[in-house]
Amino acid sequence: MDFTRKYGPWALITGASEGTGSAFARAVARRGLDCVLIARREAPLAALAAEIRALGRQCVTASVDLARPDAAARVAEAAGGREIGLYIANAGADTVNSRFLDRDIAEWDGLVTLNVLTTMRNCHWLGRAMRARRRGGMILVGSGACYGGLHGLAVYTAAKGFALNFGEALWSELGEAGIDVLSLILGRTDTPAHRRSLELAGQPVPDGMARPEEVARVGLERLGRIAVHNWGEDEHGTGMSPISPAQRQARLLAVKAMSAGYVAKEKA
Ligand SMILES: NC(=O)c1ccc[n+]([C@@H]2O[C@H](COP(=O)([O-])OP(=O)(O)OC[C@H]3O[C@@H](n4cnc5c(N)ncnc54)[C@H](OP(=O)(O)O)[C@@H]3O)[C@@H](O)[C@H]2O)c1
Repeated sequence: MDFTRKYGPWALITGASEGTGSAFARAVARRGLDCVLIARREAPLAALAAEIRALGRQCVTASVDLARPDAAARVAEAAGGREIGLYIANAGADTVNSRFLDRDIAEWDGLVTLNVLTTMRNCHWLGRAMRARRRGGMILVGSGACYGGLHGLAVYTAAKGFALNFGEALWSELGEAGIDVLSLILGRTDTPAHRRSLELAGQPVPDGMARPEEVARVGLERLGRIAVHNWGEDEHGTGMSPISPAQRQARLLAVKAMSAGYVAKEKA
């Protein structure tokens, strides 16, 4: 099935005002999808929407703070009944950058809402519509931080760990309905948000960061081929993980075969 028939007609992309999110938006528009773009800042979203319309695609934008409890409902409202065939959950970096006890709990609540609750809720309402059509795709943009707790990143590593387990399980469950799910695990990537974090921390800009355009290209290329892609590795490389994506996928298939009899039958 070609890209637009499998993942069209609309893509919904979070964190689309810059970096990897805007690179994904340009990449899917060039492949023939219309775009719903979500972030907080309206001006960069409007500029990107003009670019996408110049490519001959439709585009709508909405300013939504994904770290707020009502975010998923506001995203659904922005989508407005359009047929979303591809969801790219991209926004999710740790902009708090601090030890756990050194910040108020409200900041950590926001990071968990952004990475865990809003993404989970969007996957639910979008996933049900995709299941009814028996096609679609989801890319959950993750981080190598998902593979274990790290000093100074307690909530971020935990939230990205949730996203990895969640994405893998959805790969297995939603695959039955023709929906592809990819956990795209990034390393250091040259985004404006990451540059701002480096500057705040007084750190130099490192060499060899991934480029957002490459991240989007590889993410779209890997979708539908594997459950997890670790940036810069092939499916047999382990990187920051104790096991490779190929081993993770074999484990998912083995567990699925074992648990088939225990899972409750489909409910609407
Ligand atoms: N950059 C890296 O080195 C790196 C490494 C590993 C993993 N990742 C992952 O890659 C993804 C993208 O990272 P990134 O570096 O580009 O930073 P990011 O902050 O996750 O993404 C920036 C985009 O997200 C939007 N955004 C951020 N917080 C938001 C909120 N609360 N509500 C709505 N939109 C929000 C920003 O727009 P507005 O400011 O306009 O809202 C912007 O469009 C994240 O999931 C991150 O965890 C990045």
